[in-house]
Amino acid sequence: MVEQATLCLQGIRKSYGVGSIAEAEVLHGIDLTINKGEFTALIGPSGSGKSTLLNLIGLLDRPTAGRLIIAGVEAASLDDAALTRLRASTVGFVFQHHNLLQAFTAQENVMLPLLAARGHADAGMQKRASELIAAVGLTAWSDHLTNELSGGQQQRVAIARALVMQPALVLADEPTGNLDTESANSVFRLMRQVNRDSATSFLIVTHDPRLARRCDRIIELVDGRIFSDRANQAQEEDMDGQIAMSDPAREKPTREQ
Ligand SMILES: Nc1ncnc2c1ncn2[C@@H]1O[C@H](COP(=O)(O)OP(=O)(O)OP(=O)(O)O)[C@@H](O)[C@H]1O
Ligand SMILES: [Mg+2]
Repeated sequence: MVEQATLCLQGIRKSYGVGSIAEAEVLHGIDLTINKGEFTALIGPSGSGKSTLLNLIGLLDRPTAGRLIIAGVEAASLDDAALTRLRASTVGFVFQHHNLLQAFTAQENVMLPLLAARGHADAGMQKRASELIAAVGLTAWSDHLTNELSGGQQQRVAIARALVMQPALVLADEPTGNLDTESANSVFRLMRQVNRDSATSFLIVTHDPRLARRCDRIIELVDGRIFSDRANQAQEEDMDGQIAMSDPAREKPTREQ
C-alpha cells in the first residue's frame, strides 16, 4: 500500500483583492506532494509567493482555486471551525519573528497550543512541554520570560511550541533569518534532528542557499509557479563548515516549467 502523502496540492491558485480593481493572481497553479518525513526547502525571489503558499498550506488562508489535501483531509470541505481544528492538530509553524508571547515563560509558550486545544491545563501538558523544552536544550531557561532569551533560544522555544501537538508537517518561514550563523546552525540542526527522530515533514522557506543545500529536496518558486523541484543528494553538514557544493550533474529536476 502506498503511504498517504502528508500534503497534496493540485492546481492551487491564489488571488488577492478578488473582485476589486487591484485583483492580482500571485500563485498560478501549484501542484505539489510532500511525503511523510520529507525535509524540503522552498526558495525563490522576494515576491515569488513563498509566504502566500505557506499560508495556504498552513490553512491560514484559502486558495482561490485548486485542491489542498493535508493528512488525508480535503481542506475545501471544511468550515472555518473545522479548518482551525485541522490546523491545530496537523501543522506546526515557525516564523522569522517567532511570535512568542513575551509576558509568558518559555514553558508556558510551549504549552499554549495544548491549552488552546483542550481548554484547561493538566499535569500531562506540563510534562509534555518540559520534555520538549529539554529536547531543544532549554531546561535551564524554561521558567524565564521569553524576552530574557536570545534570538536563537527564542527560536528554539518556537520550534518546541510548533512540535507540541505532534504535527505531521512543520512550516517554517525564514526560521533562521534573524539569527547569527552559529544560532542559525544550531536551530537548523535541531529541526533536522526532529525530522529524523519523529519523521515529521518540514517545509522551510529560506533565502539562504547554504541552508537550502542542507535539505533533502529543494523547490524553487518563481513568479507564482514551481520553477524547479529537485532532490538534493549532496548535502552540506554545516553552514559554517567547508561548503560542499552539491553536484549539479546529480541533481535531477523532476519538474521544470
Ligand atoms: N495580503 C496581501 N494582499 C495583497 N497582496 C499580497 C498580500 N500578501 C502578499 N501579496 C503579494 O503577493 C505576492 C507574493 O508575496 P509573498 O509574500 O507570498 O512573497 P514571498 O515569496 O514570501 O516574498 P519574500 O521573500 O519577500 O518574503 C507579492 O506580489 C505580494 O505583494
Ligand atoms: Mg515571505
